[in-house]
Amino acid sequence: MLKIAVLISGGGSNLQAIIDKIESGYLNCSIEMVISDREGAYGIERARKKGIKTYVLDRKVYGAELSKKILSLTEEKVDLIVLAGFLSILDKELICSFRNRIINIHPSLIPSFCGPRMYGIKVHEKAVEYGVKYSGCTVHFVDEGTDTGAIISQRIVEVYPEDTAEILQKRVLEEEHKLLPEVIRLIAEKRIKVEGRKVFIL
Ligand code: GRF
Repeated sequence: MLKIAVLISGGGSNLQAIIDKIESGYLNCSIEMVISDREGAYGIERARKKGIKTYVLDRKVYGAELSKKILSLTEEKVDLIVLAGFLSILDKELICSFRNRIINIHPSLIPSFCGPRMYGIKVHEKAVEYGVKYSGCTVHFVDEGTDTGAIISQRIVEVYPEDTAEILQKRVLEEEHKLLPEVIRLIAEKRIKVEGRKVFIL
C-alpha cells in the first residue's frame, strides 16, 4: 500500500479530501503522517481527529533546517510526499532524495499565475484581474524551482466577469478536492511514467 506524508500550512481541506477518499475506499493508501510548518493550522486538528501522526515544525523555529527535519521524518517511511497547501520552500537535498516522489497542488493552470509569492487568494485575484475565461488547478511534481516541475494533471473551471477572487477560489477548490486524490490514486496504481517534462498516464 502506498504510504504518504501530507504537508500543510493551513486549513487542510485538501488533506480532508484525501482522508475522505481513503475512507470511501477510492484511495488505497495510508497517511503515515501530517506535517505542518506553522502552529495552529486547522489541518493538524483534522489529522488528529483521525488518529494520524502529526508534527508541527514551526518554520520560524526551524528556519533553514526545516527540510532536513522533514527528510529525517519521511526518509524510508513514506513513498510519496504530498504538498497540500504547504507554503515553505523545500531544499535541494530533500527534493533529490524524493525525486518524482513529491507532488504539489497549485490553484491555477500552470504556467499562469504561479511562481514565487503566488499563493492563496493572490492567485485568484490575479486571474480575475487579468480577465481570463478559464482557470483551474494543477498537480505537478516538485523540482528545484517554484511551481516549475512536470505537470501531472490539471482541471479547468470557467471564470465569469462578475467573479470575485473569493468566488473563483471556492470554485477552484472544489476541483482541487477531486484532482489531488485522482493523482494520488494514479501514483498508487503505478500508472504514471515521467520522461523529462512529459508525464504519461498509463
Ligand atoms: C489550495 O488552494 C492549494 O491549491 C494551495 O493552498 C490551498 C490550500 O487549501 N496550494 P487547504 O489548506 O487544502 O484547504
